[in-house]
Amino acid sequence: ATQNAFYTDEIKRLLVEKNAVLVSHYYTDPEIQALTEETGGFISDSLEMARYGRDSEAQTLIVAGVKFMGETSKILSPQKTVLMPTLDATCSLDLGCPIDEFSAFCDAHPDHTVVVYANTSAAVKARADWVVTSSIALEIVEHLDAMGEKILWGPDRHLGAYIAKQTGADMLMWQGECIVHDEFSANALKKMKHLHPDAAILVHPESPASVVEMADAVGSTTQLIQASQKMNNEKFIVATDRGIFYKMQQLAPEKTFYEAPTAGNGATCKSCAHCPWMAMNGLKAIYNALTDNTGHEIFVDEALRQKALVPLNRMLDFAA
Ligand code: 13P
Ligand code: SF4
Repeated sequence: ATQNAFYTDEIKRLLVEKNAVLVSHYYTDPEIQALTEETGGFISDSLEMARYGRDSEAQTLIVAGVKFMGETSKILSPQKTVLMPTLDATCSLDLGCPIDEFSAFCDAHPDHTVVVYANTSAAVKARADWVVTSSIALEIVEHLDAMGEKILWGPDRHLGAYIAKQTGADMLMWQGECIVHDEFSANALKKMKHLHPDAAILVHPESPASVVEMADAVGSTTQLIQASQKMNNEKFIVATDRGIFYKMQQLAPEKTFYEAPTAGNGATCKSCAHCPWMAMNGLKAIYNALTDNTGHEIFVDEALRQKALVPLNRMLDFAA
């Protein structure tokens, strides 16, 4: 506890001294979200983190999330210093979509419009026509489909399948997945729903189709938080990273939130409703980002940055 108090005090002082701001994702641990609020930083989904970072007056952004979020911030704000608590915080979607293989897949289907999820490297974004996040993917694909375009989608196959089903768009899929959401189990969820028949089920669309089909609301982290506030239910079963409970509970203290069950248990499942890379964003790591001279800064090659900026800006303009 004393150690944590030391890091918290030092981080507060250093943020002011360095004109830096914390930009955190809803999946980070509660103490990180609390510190972000206390220091006047920003917590949100990946789309809004990108926009906030770009518009912030701060010279330095400390992105508490995973690497693609830091890279997105740097692509949008090359003049700012973008630091991450650890550069090892990656994402299974990013890891599962290496640029060479993805680029070959695109080359093999030149008549397709390439739409990639934000959870990808700067190089994969640079190969895309559009970048999307889960909060805007449905609308953008709907728009492209209405224009008669065929879509090459990557890397999340579950989100892709959900969008294809909702829009009827012609979509070729890369076969990636999020190790956290892929673990949610429809069978286990049915049993849980039986125990809490009046609970509403909220599902992030990175979950398997069988889980998405059981949802009362499907959406990005921000959209799920909004649903938990708007819906009249007193109980909710939530299929996404448990980091989201911090905000859900804060905005609706009278409601009860349950974590959706995974197929395995602590011993067998890889993530059990908490992203191992998001969990790397601890107090000590944030302190290190503010004090170490090397090993935390995000750099993106300038030619690559300019290419990746085009599909990213397309998304931001569309969402505006
Ligand atoms: P959103 O916050 O955009 O819904 O993204 C979910 C996610 O998995 C980020 O890692
Ligand atoms: Fe990637 Fe899933 Fe972790 Fe999000 S929760 S960063 S999609 S592995």
